[in-house]
Amino acid sequence: MFAYRGFLLDSARHMQSVEEIKRLIDALAVLKYNYFHWHLTDDQGWRFESEVFPALNAAAVRPYSDFGKTREDAPYGRVYTRAELREVVEYCEEKGMTVVPEFDMPGHTSALLSVFPELSCGGEKVKIKTHQGVFKDVLCPAKEKTFETVTRLLDEFTEVFPGEYVHVGGDETPPAHWKTCPDCRRYMREHGIKSFDAYHTDFMNRIVDYLARKGRTAIVWNDAAKSGALDKRAVLQYWKERDKASVAFLNAGGRAILSPFSYYYLDYDFQITPLNRVYAAKPTLPGLTAEGRKNILGVEATLWTEFITEDRALEEHAFPRAIAVAQTGLGERRATYEALLRDVKELRKELDFVAFADEAQWTQPRRAMPRGWIRFAREHVSKAYLKELLS
Ligand code: ACM
Ligand code: ZN
Repeated sequence: MFAYRGFLLDSARHMQSVEEIKRLIDALAVLKYNYFHWHLTDDQGWRFESEVFPALNAAAVRPYSDFGKTREDAPYGRVYTRAELREVVEYCEEKGMTVVPEFDMPGHTSALLSVFPELSCGGEKVKIKTHQGVFKDVLCPAKEKTFETVTRLLDEFTEVFPGEYVHVGGDETPPAHWKTCPDCRRYMREHGIKSFDAYHTDFMNRIVDYLARKGRTAIVWNDAAKSGALDKRAVLQYWKERDKASVAFLNAGGRAILSPFSYYYLDYDFQITPLNRVYAAKPTLPGLTAEGRKNILGVEATLWTEFITEDRALEEHAFPRAIAVAQTGLGERRATYEALLRDVKELRKELDFVAFADEAQWTQPRRAMPRGWIRFAREHVSKAYLKELLS
């Protein structure tokens, strides 16, 4: 059994009521998940009520939403109040789970920058985003004000969330603005930093250190480890597959959580990631030594919500696929897919308070992947799987 069995819910792109979150937690507890990774900040909304920076709470509201498949003209979003955040913390505790809050940085920070543009390289006005994507609006790591602001916010996070782990993001951070920023250039020169990957890691390491001094462990997405210099006190979250830096990190004593995106990203429809694909994931990586394998802390399913706006759709994306991830996390991955299907049918009775995807969708023999998925997958899934899909 792995020590870490997590489930990520994105409440930034679209948020859920506390009642719905509790229903999800009830179901996850039945499946013996022990960490609820709560993605609370992103380009499209800031959801953590700050008392130190009350002005930041305005970054919860975007003027409209346009995620392609869905368009909504009305302003969207609010923060979860301190009372609501604490309610979720306490509810998780009652169910044997711990909240891992995520404050995503230095990328995915358009909402934060919409209120504090002085934390960006150019200081220009930044808009909160109304659609999905990877954006060039990122924090300027060189400005002291950036470090001061994010650490004061992390102090607020750790005040509300008592668990060991705090997720600090580190994914999808284009260095476009860093390249021309005099402050970034000066910092890199003074610290002998030769690449933007190393600069990215340097920023994350300062955050990892800050949290370590508070007795907390930072979790970071594997994008931030590309330079090979990520602090081993951090836990890496592996989502981009075929990543040699993650393997090296584990083999050298770092710990990691596995969320390989072509298996465990449950926001994709079943036509893309059917239950048999989720089941197929083995909790290891090619190239790991025996020592490296021991450093795998666990697994995590993720549910991003760019396109998931309704409770029913949220649950149908999660179930039954979350059962397969849970079994792997518990070290109870079944010998055959048919055995998993039998378990699913049994567990479904106990989980009758959440919606399951229609059984006809669960098992897909062929896939017609969307072009965008293939473009990303060319770099970030195994070559064998890519070949199978393109054949
Ligand atoms: C991620 O999916 N951007 C971690
Ligand atoms: Zn800068």
